[in-house]
Amino acid sequence: MVDSVKIQSEVYPVLIGLMGCGKTSIGKLLSKELGLKLVDLDHYIVEKAGKTIPEIFAELGEEGFRDLESEALAEVIGQPVVLSTGGGAVMRAENRALMEAHAPVIWLKSSLEFLANRIQGDKNRPLIVGRDALTTLQQLAEIRYPYYTQCADYILHRGKLNKAASLKAVLEYLRSWQYEQHGDALSADKGTYNPLDVIEPF
Ligand code: S3P
Repeated sequence: MVDSVKIQSEVYPVLIGLMGCGKTSIGKLLSKELGLKLVDLDHYIVEKAGKTIPEIFAELGEEGFRDLESEALAEVIGQPVVLSTGGGAVMRAENRALMEAHAPVIWLKSSLEFLANRIQGDKNRPLIVGRDALTTLQQLAEIRYPYYTQCADYILHRGKLNKAASLKAVLEYLRSWQYEQHGDALSADKGTYNPLDVIEPF
C-alpha cells in the first residue's frame, strides 16, 4: 500500500550557491509552493548563537563560524523543510557528504558580475567587507565551483531569469526528481493531492 503523504513530504530541497544568488528569496517562494517551512541556515546559526554573523566571525574567526555552520547543517538537513544554506556550507567534506546524502540539492548559479553587484558593500557578509566583491567571488568560485558541482543534483543557470521564472524552473525539476524517485508509486496513486501539481501558472 502506497503511503502518498510520505512520498509528498520527501521533497525537501536544499539550496546552495555563492552569496547573493537568491537562495533565501527563491527559498521563500519555494517553501510557500511546497507548503514547507523555510530554514535559512545563517538565521538558524544566528538564533542559536545569539550573535550576528559579523559578530561570530569577529569573535570566533571563519573556522569558528564553519564549526557552527556544520553543527547547524547536521541538525537541520533531512527535516521536512526547504533549506537555504550559506555560500560556504560546501567547504567542509562532512557537509558535502550530508548534502550528497540528502537530495534534491539545487545550485542557483549566476554570473559573478551579477552577484558582485548585489552584494558589494553588504556589511553582513564578513568575507567581502572592505574588499572588492568581484575579486573575492572569483577566488571563492575557483575553490567552490567543484564542490557545488559535486553536491548539486540540479543546476539552475539563472542568467536573466527573474524570481518567478527561476521558481518555475526549480519546481519543474523537483517534479521530475520526485517522479524519478517515486514514479511508480505516484502513478499508482492517482487522485492524491500533490503540492507539485497545483502550481499556479506564471
Ligand atoms: C558565506 C556566506 C554567507 C554566510 C557567511 C559566509 C560564505 O551566506 O554564511 O557570511 O562563506 O560564502 P550567504 O551565502 O547567504 O550570503
